[in-house]
Amino acid sequence: MVNNNSTTEINGPLTGIKVLDWTIWQFGPVSTSMMGDMGADVIKIESLDGDPSRGLSRASSMKMDLGEGRIAYFETCNRNKRSIAVNLKTKEGRQIIYDLCKDADVFVQNFRSGVAERLGVGYETLKEINPQLIYGSANGYGPHGPDANQPSFDGCGQARSGLMMSASQGGQEYPTQVTQGVSDQIGGIMLCQGILAALVSRSIRGIGQKVETSHLSANMWLQGLGVSMSLLQGGVGFSPYNRKEPVNPLSNVYRTSDGRFIMMMHLQPDQYWEPLLEAMELQEFIGDPRYSDMPSRSENSAEVVALLDKRFDEKTAEEWDTLFRNFSTDFIYSLVQTVQDLPYDPQVIANDFITNFNHPVLGEVQMCNHPSIYSETPAGIWKEAPEVGQHTEQVLVDELGYGWDDIAELQSTGTIL
Ligand SMILES: CC(C)(COP(=O)(O)OP(=O)(O)OC[C@H]1O[C@@H](n2cnc3c(N)ncnc32)[C@H](O)[C@@H]1OP(=O)(O)O)[C@@H](O)C(=O)NCCC(=O)NCCS
Repeated sequence: MVNNNSTTEINGPLTGIKVLDWTIWQFGPVSTSMMGDMGADVIKIESLDGDPSRGLSRASSMKMDLGEGRIAYFETCNRNKRSIAVNLKTKEGRQIIYDLCKDADVFVQNFRSGVAERLGVGYETLKEINPQLIYGSANGYGPHGPDANQPSFDGCGQARSGLMMSASQGGQEYPTQVTQGVSDQIGGIMLCQGILAALVSRSIRGIGQKVETSHLSANMWLQGLGVSMSLLQGGVGFSPYNRKEPVNPLSNVYRTSDGRFIMMMHLQPDQYWEPLLEAMELQEFIGDPRYSDMPSRSENSAEVVALLDKRFDEKTAEEWDTLFRNFSTDFIYSLVQTVQDLPYDPQVIANDFITNFNHPVLGEVQMCNHPSIYSETPAGIWKEAPEVGQHTEQVLVDELGYGWDDIAELQSTGTIL
């Protein structure tokens, strides 16, 4: 079953789970919007000024303003949520959170270590109210150690974890920063995964617990294969990717005549070498001992790359793609795409990896869909990101039984919006 919002009935795998989402920017909000995609009732708790990411005007060169007061960054990280605006620096504000905690399943926050405790919403306090609560917490560098309280944004996670160097080629003057908040995104994914595991454990053992993740741990885990393979060999490093002289020229990127790129990914190259020469009409090199097996191609890697470079530059990417698809051997490769190419990719379309959403303010929009397809309990986009405090009254009156006089009083004392 394709997951899309053509159905308005929320029936995702987390339907019935209530999440209190005291998160800001991308790291925390991604974890909880994923839970929202999966059908959880996510109540975002904001300060009276709102999540600071509501004020973001640009991310790199990309403008954030979608008009009508909507911000692309915030819409993306906070879909499928409601919002309440509560001043946690007041006793009454904290009481609202304590009341909500009584029947909540999950509480999530991504402030610097110590902030939650200072405001009276640390794990030790909330577990007294609800021992079954799963408390998700994220920071930059982990809960212990000299940098536990240090602030961190996406690039810090990329830098500290080794990711920037992993993304760089040999000889670059400065390391590469992967754009679009990938370090925050993997942090959010890992935080979500940890919370889901704790929910499963709660259903089996009946215990709540605190789950902590960080930019550093999540981005190390993103490279977990490399980190552990290196450690298993006493700390040897990966040499940086060298396109002109790779160990395996059949696992390398090549430019085509129209300036596009093809990523070849033959990890067992011997079985592909001769068919590839045939497909590329380079038959004269079949049987040539300089290139006939992996060790010889590695030895003469620069020559093989030069040979393939020259040939790839004689057809467009589409021509190569058609030729490879029609050849008798299944070559393992992919065209290199940009994010902007994705809405036109037939695989993305067929699997609904980008889905339509009828946004009540912006109209029909497209967004990146939840990444997993559930056969019985589809995930999807049910709801646009909320305005700051949009649901404060609804939650306090309908769900906590506050009266309208209480609401007026809380508003007049600056406890809620
Ligand atoms: C994102 C980050 C760098 C912001 O740092 P910061 O602006 O110095 O904010 P802090 O986390 O230290 O504290 C947040 C402030 O908001 C206040 N605040 C937040 N929500 C509030 C609420 N509902 N009511 C009252 N105050 C609130 C906190 O009390 C604190 O203010 P204080 O120090 O005056 O008490 C930091 O929170 C951080 O490193 N987080 C962990 C890593 C992370 O997730 N980074 C974001 C990646 S997208």
